[in-house]
Amino acid sequence: MRFIVGVSGGIAIYKVVDLVRRFKKRGDEVRVVMTDSATKFVTPELFREISLEPVMTGVFGNEETAAHIKWAEWCDAMIIAPATANVIGKLAAGIADDALTTVSIAMTKPLIIAPAMNKDMFNSAAVTANLVLLKQRGVKVIDPSSGELACGVEGVGRLPEPSEIVEQVDKILNVNKKLSGYKIIVTAGGTREAIDPVRYIGNRSSGKMGYAVAKVAAERGAEVVLVTSSDLQVPPLVKVVNVESAEQMRQAVLSEYGTASAVIMAAAVADYRVANPSEQKIKKAEDTLTLELVKNPDILLELGQNKQKQILIGFAAETQTVEKNAVEKLKKKNLDMIVANDVTAEGAGFGVDTNIVTLITANEAKSYPKMTKIEVADIILNELENMLCKD
Ligand code: PMT
Repeated sequence: MRFIVGVSGGIAIYKVVDLVRRFKKRGDEVRVVMTDSATKFVTPELFREISLEPVMTGVFGNEETAAHIKWAEWCDAMIIAPATANVIGKLAAGIADDALTTVSIAMTKPLIIAPAMNKDMFNSAAVTANLVLLKQRGVKVIDPSSGELACGVEGVGRLPEPSEIVEQVDKILNVNKKLSGYKIIVTAGGTREAIDPVRYIGNRSSGKMGYAVAKVAAERGAEVVLVTSSDLQVPPLVKVVNVESAEQMRQAVLSEYGTASAVIMAAAVADYRVANPSEQKIKKAEDTLTLELVKNPDILLELGQNKQKQILIGFAAETQTVEKNAVEKLKKKNLDMIVANDVTAEGAGFGVDTNIVTLITANEAKSYPKMTKIEVADIILNELENMLCKD
């Protein structure tokens, strides 16, 4: 693989010299970009000798023009180690005022950061909030380990050993890409059921949960078809099918179903639609207006009835007796797993960047604390990987 290692100025930099050496030894290509402070600890020449590649220390004076863009395009992933409080703050705020932050902001590939600093700095409100924000944006964080810190105190803030960083990077990047060769349909967003040409019945789903699942599945090598009624930014390598209504979502999912290995339905599909949507805008004439609603097809139920080898994963948006209702849906729709979320809980369900879920299969129910939707996607796809590998 091709890595950019971003080095910022911390005492743990000596471990990064070994990190670069390890990547090189196993055949990876590595280019190093350093902050000005990093060059006060070790010289660029050291990294140049180990990596056998140019080292970038500034935005200007590089051999290539627009080197920051070309480097970001060249690599498969970027790892910032050690990531200081300063660099973490700049990444969170979108500040690009040196070589390292300029390359980082141009990255469209996975960005992994390994924070290392004094324990009080690491636990500060600013660093904590910045890391939450970065995780929500899909940045992967390698947690610091605990032990004696450079300042002499004990606590969390040590850069993990290079062998451990390599292991975690491989895990994050799914070097083996366990989902490659599998086609996965993901649905996202709330369907819109027309009342007339300008109005619709909708719901509060933003699409964030489904997009997170699509993003992580693509990163793990799956061929992802995202059927969505939402217009969030499409994750890289994901095929998008835009739909509005439940019926359009049904058609789009069914047309891909025969060749799919799995379907993950995170969409909030309207259970009812207007029986006879008006062809013209309804005029404000009467004091009351009655709409007749008819039942929509249940897409997941239909998939469950026509299941061949596909793994089916549904979501259950509940407001009461969450697990009981979810188990009923699991059985009724012939699902392999259902992700139950109490959409009334703070930090869970519609619109927010986090969720609180229980993963339920025929054999067990696993409850998790509040996580980012990317992290929820990770645990769902871990389960899916296990199910697909059993075949
Ligand atoms: O989009 P976000 O803002 O990120 O919010 C995420 C979410 C709350 C929408 C998501 O986590 C979630 O819970 N999605 C499922 C919402 C839902 O419709 O739940 P349900 O319990 O009504 O339906 C159960 C399952 O059947 C779902 O997988 C649903 O996609 C599917 N379904 C429902 C109705 C229908 N007519 N056809 C279906 O396929």
